[in-house]
Amino acid sequence: MSMGPGSGVVAGYHDGIPLDRWARVTAGRLLADEQPRRWAHSQGVGRKAEGAALALAPADRPVLVAAAWLHDIGYAAAVRGVGFHQLDGARYLRRLGVPPRVCALVAHHSGADAVAALVGLGPRLAEFPDERGPVRDALWYCDLTTSPDGLPVSYRTRLLELRARRSPDDPVVRALADNGEERAAVVRRTEDLLLSVRFGHRAEVDGDRRTG
Ligand SMILES: [Fe+2]
Repeated sequence: MSMGPGSGVVAGYHDGIPLDRWARVTAGRLLADEQPRRWAHSQGVGRKAEGAALALAPADRPVLVAAAWLHDIGYAAAVRGVGFHQLDGARYLRRLGVPPRVCALVAHHSGADAVAALVGLGPRLAEFPDERGPVRDALWYCDLTTSPDGLPVSYRTRLLELRARRSPDDPVVRALADNGEERAAVVRRTEDLLLSVRFGHRAEVDGDRRTG
């Protein structure tokens, strides 16, 4: 049996495997062959997270990167359960022994709560806590500024694309009335964080030049 990308063969997570690497390999096995476009998107989000992670505390970096690679595995046939991809993905990861924080980030990514409330899955999603901090914001940001083909786009473009792709009565579109502002705020907060870190680094470099 092939064990390469897209093979569908998934091994459980255990301590000792680098979490971010395991996540990349696992997402590829579930999505690469079955859903190439979704895989292209996941790669774009995973790569963007690898850059954004540098703005986070070192211990948080593999958590963000792992959640980014895995955020949409709930769409894979082997993972699908109730048909709500954030919840299906999170539960699947929990069964594989993935750290609870990564499962919870996947469960709540990119405004899942408002969609879950519309389809009656709010209590099930609440099995997982929503940590509401910069790591969670960065995950949403990476997803919300990456096109379905994995290219970097503005949040505004992503929103226009989403509305064009889905029907107005799709719960994801209807939920924008509840979570649109929060999604935009998350993107702004993360952009501010990334900018402050970038300028902070520059200030350090300038400082080194001055003193050196
Ligand atoms: Fe998603």
